[in-house]
Amino acid sequence: MCGIVGYIGQRKAYPILIEGLKRLEYRGYDSAGIALLAENAFEVHKEAGKVADLENIIPQKEHLQTIGIAHTRWATHGQPTSKNAHPHYSTSKDIVVVHNGIIENFMPLKRSLIEQGYTFQSDTDTEVIVNLIEKESKKGQVSFEESVNKALQQLHGAYALAVLSKKEPEKLIVARKGSPLAIGLGKEYSEFFVASDAIPIVEYTQDLIYLNDNEVAVLERGKKVEVKDIYGKSKMYKVKHIELDNNMVTKGEYEHFMLKEIFEQPDTLSNTIFSHLSEKEDTIYFEGLDELKKQLSEAKRILIIACGTSWHSGLIGEYLIEELARVPVEVEYASEFRYRNPIVRKDDIVLAISQSGETADTLAAMRYSKAQGATTFAICNVYGSSMAREADFVAYTYAGVEIGVASTKAFTAQVAVLSLLAIAMGQENDVLDVKTAKKLMKELREIPKLVAKTLEKDTEIEQLAKDFLDVTSFLYLGRGVNFPLALEGALKLKEISYIHAEGYPAAEMKHGPIAMIDEKLPTLIVGTNEAFYEKIVSNAQEVKARKGTIISIVNEGDKQLSELSDYVMTVPKVADELQPIVGAIPLHLF
Ligand code: BG6
Repeated sequence: MCGIVGYIGQRKAYPILIEGLKRLEYRGYDSAGIALLAENAFEVHKEAGKVADLENIIPQKEHLQTIGIAHTRWATHGQPTSKNAHPHYSTSKDIVVVHNGIIENFMPLKRSLIEQGYTFQSDTDTEVIVNLIEKESKKGQVSFEESVNKALQQLHGAYALAVLSKKEPEKLIVARKGSPLAIGLGKEYSEFFVASDAIPIVEYTQDLIYLNDNEVAVLERGKKVEVKDIYGKSKMYKVKHIELDNNMVTKGEYEHFMLKEIFEQPDTLSNTIFSHLSEKEDTIYFEGLDELKKQLSEAKRILIIACGTSWHSGLIGEYLIEELARVPVEVEYASEFRYRNPIVRKDDIVLAISQSGETADTLAAMRYSKAQGATTFAICNVYGSSMAREADFVAYTYAGVEIGVASTKAFTAQVAVLSLLAIAMGQENDVLDVKTAKKLMKELREIPKLVAKTLEKDTEIEQLAKDFLDVTSFLYLGRGVNFPLALEGALKLKEISYIHAEGYPAAEMKHGPIAMIDEKLPTLIVGTNEAFYEKIVSNAQEVKARKGTIISIVNEGDKQLSELSDYVMTVPKVADELQPIVGAIPLHLF
């Protein structure tokens, strides 16, 4: 994933682009770059590292240019070096491009361009795009726009891109296929803001156009936006007015976005739960629920597709839906599903879970399922995202803007929605007794408060974590619904602390990983499930027998597992089904 930003208007482009990159750093943070255009000349700066590193190498002067594009990268093709950072020039240096996505046929295109005399400075797939545009621009009287279109017609893969040309310096051209792209409209088309999402734009305008796949827009000051397909055919578009407050996209008093988002969870959970559950009555709402319930009750199976953290909440959903509603569920990595010729039937319900609603693999898997005739249902956090627009049914998580690279508040919101869905389905299917349903709904109403209480352990957990700074590997164990939570805890440690961690079902530990346990490999045990408590205590005994250090997450008042553990993090006791929501908090903080 990478982030792109662009600006064309009357203001100085530089601060808009740099601030925009900072807000998109969650999309990529291994290198960054910027290109400014004025008086027929580009000023390009690129640097490995974060946006702050880029800022450090840019001469401290007033950058007067009013047109520019910028990029923050998460390397896919070529190492994270300044050479591979975007923007990339064409061979003649007349054109520059920033790109988010992967060009799958870049190798044959690159070979052919080299044979024709084009030169390449980087190892990226992106340089092929800009050289192709240049090649097309040389074929007679071809406009900038036409040469972009002709180049795009030759690409396989995904892109969101912004292109500038010295030959037509009044134009910023943007295009999208597979990767997201938003255009912010200034008053009377006097200026345009471009970004991978609305977050960098909302400070300036709340009127946005979201490009669809295979669409290209030419942005020119004072001219109405024209959106066309890559063959030049005009396309209709809608201007969306989005309600996004600038405060929602700044760090406030927190050092990091991730920390801010972890602490927002009492609110995000409250918003999510009470958007789908009545505060007083035991009524669950989902948009189109009656029709959805009918389809769900007739479904032979539910297929959950997702990536990353959303996949973990999908696994929790599998436990919940099978337990409470007795409908068979299969959970798939969308990235595997879409490439493996999966069997999808018309009577399947395909549930796509995604914070952004834009993850390319999940979107492709959802589209494939829809084309096979299955009913699609998206659980999304971003209103109006591609998945939300294209699915037959949508349930929103009301977690607010999530900027942190690692998903936190979206995860707990997804699990809350899945819990409510499982309860609603269980009731519809007459397999969930009224008492259990009422108890779970009552506890869900309490969850935001219990999460707030768990967050008070912040300093304690920070101290505990300090004892493990030099550890290079961790084992995370859980059972039942807490097994996917163990996977999620391990993922967070890898993604954020760069410490290897492996999540495992506690009962499977004996079939291999147990061999690794010694005093150097700490084991984090999520030991809150009442149903398997004795079994988890036995697993802890097995770790101790091998001199392993145990950090456990236990319910308040716990005795046995706490006595066996070297470190303990406590959470308030809730029903087994809802434990991943409170259990996620110490794992996020740790
Ligand atoms: C990854 C993020 O790139 O995308 C994860 O690092 C996230 O945190 C995953 O879970 C899937 O994203 P989404 O938006 O589809 O939930």
